[in-house]
Amino acid sequence: MIVETIKIIHLLALMFGAAASFGNLYILMARGPHDLPSPGFTNQLRYLFRLTALAAIAIIWISGLLLMLIKYGWWIQSFAFDVKITFATVVLLIIAFLNLMAMRTPKNPGGPPSYVPVLHMIAATSLVVTVVFAVIAFG
Ligand code: HEM
Repeated sequence: MIVETIKIIHLLALMFGAAASFGNLYILMARGPHDLPSPGFTNQLRYLFRLTALAAIAIIWISGLLLMLIKYGWWIQSFAFDVKITFATVVLLIIAFLNLMAMRTPKNPGGPPSYVPVLHMIAATSLVVTVVFAVIAFG
């Protein structure tokens, strides 16, 4: 029962995190050649996605570590799990970095700095790869 509950939390956090990650990509796609005149609204969405992603990845890591410790012990000896954790680490680092930078630097009227879209794309791709290797690791 406890394992099922933690796994539900793991997957629900993944769901919310994926919504934020892909939401950022949709904002990028909607940008278009002539920017639509709603920077305040777009920035509010960016803010919501940024905080959702931070909460989600924290919960994913905590629930994932708990699942591992309760069900399997200190580590899971499988190549697929190594790959999964590698990409889960990439996702964690990118979200932590983007949140840190957004909190430290004042808002730019021309939108976020150019490295931000690149990191969003790497994070979304890493998230997909993590899910694929989670399924390969656990069947
Ligand atoms: C972005 C990060 C992560 C994503 C997208 C993710 C995704 C998933 C998915 C889709 C499953 C279900 C796989 C299945 O049952 O077939 C799963 C299960 C699991 N995850 Fe994660 N995970 C992430 C991070 C982590 C971390 C950091 C850990 C541990 C250090 C972890 C440990 C586990 C464990 C132990 C299970 C298996 C539970 C079971 O035996 O049923 N996950 N994860």
